[in-house]
Amino acid sequence: QDTLGAAASQTGRYFGAAVAAHKLSEPAYVSILDREFNMVTAENEMKMDATEPNQGQFTFGNADRIVNHALSRGMRVRGHTLAWHSQQPGWMQGMEGPGLRQAMLNHVTQVAAHFRGRIHSWDVVNEAFEDGGSGARRNSNLQRTGNDWIEAAFRAARAADPGAKLCYNDYNIDDWSHAKTQAVYRMVQDFRSRGVPIDCVGLQSHFFGVNVPANYQTTISSFAALGVEVQITELDVGGSGWQQADNYRRVTQACLNVPRCTGITVWGIRDSDSWRASQTPLLFDGQGNKKEAYYSVLNTLNGG
Ligand code: G3I
Repeated sequence: QDTLGAAASQTGRYFGAAVAAHKLSEPAYVSILDREFNMVTAENEMKMDATEPNQGQFTFGNADRIVNHALSRGMRVRGHTLAWHSQQPGWMQGMEGPGLRQAMLNHVTQVAAHFRGRIHSWDVVNEAFEDGGSGARRNSNLQRTGNDWIEAAFRAARAADPGAKLCYNDYNIDDWSHAKTQAVYRMVQDFRSRGVPIDCVGLQSHFFGVNVPANYQTTISSFAALGVEVQITELDVGGSGWQQADNYRRVTQACLNVPRCTGITVWGIRDSDSWRASQTPLLFDGQGNKKEAYYSVLNTLNGG
C-alpha cells in the first residue's frame, strides 16, 4: 500500500494525525491529511478551554469543523481531551472542591454528549500522574477534589457516549521500568478489577533527546494483557535522518507485534506544524515532502 492509512488498514489498524482547525483551509495541508491518514485528533480544539470558555457555555465550532472534515471523508476521530489539569478555562483554574468536581463532571458529560456516536476513542483523562520516581498522582486542582476523580470522569463519559472507547492518556509512560508507567499500570489494573469503564491506554510517545526504550514493546504488551487496547496517541521523534527513521520504525514494529495495539497517531503532519517545529519531529518536511522517517513507517506497516 502506498499511504500510511491504507498500509495500517492491512492489519486492521489506523494511522492518524493531530490536526488544527485553522489549517483546514490550507490546500497543501489538507491534501496530505486526506491522502495519508484515516484517523484525526484535534490538536487543541476539544480541550476544556476551547469547548467551555465560560462556565456552562459550550462552543464547538472549531471542533465540529475537524470532526465533520474527518467523518465526511471516511476518517475516524480520537477525542482529546475531556479532563486535564492544563488548558483549563480561566473560570475553572481557580476552582476547588465539590464545585470543581461538579463542573468537571458536567464538562465531561456535555462534551461527550455533543459528539455522541462520532468519536472512536476519548482521552477521558490526560496526564494525571507525576513525573519522576514517586509514582504519585499529579497534584492539581482536579486531584485535590479526591483520588476518585479519574474514575468518576470515566463513568460520566461512558454514560454520555456509550459507544466510544474510553482511554487514559499520558506521556513518559513508554519505558516499562519507570515508576510513572508502573503507577498508571496499577491504576488500569485496579479499574479493570473493579469494573470502572476503561477500554484503552494512550501512550503519547513524545521522543525528544531520547531513543525509543528497548522495553517499549513490553510496555505495550503489558497494558494489553490487562484487556485494554493500546493506542500510540501523540507520536513524534526529535532528530533527522537514519536515527529518526529507525526510532519511528521501532515504534511501528512494536505496535504491529501486539494484537491489541490498534493504531498510531502522529502529533502533526509537517515538521512546521509541530509544537516543537525546530526539532523536525514529524514524517513530512515543511514543504510536505516525505522524509526518511515516512518511508520507514510505511515499509514497516507493509510488512518490512
Ligand atoms: O490560540 C492562541 C492564539 O489565539 C494566541 O495568539 C497564541 C499566542 O500564544 O496562543 C494560541 O494558543 C496556543 C495553542 O497551542 C494553539 O496554537 C497556546 O498558546 C499553546 O500553549 C498551545 O499549545 C498546545 C499545547 O498542547 C498546550 O498544552 C500545542 O499546540 C499542542 O500541540 C499541545 O499538545 C499536547 C497535548 O494536548 C497533550 N500532550 C502533550 C502535547 C504537547 O505539548
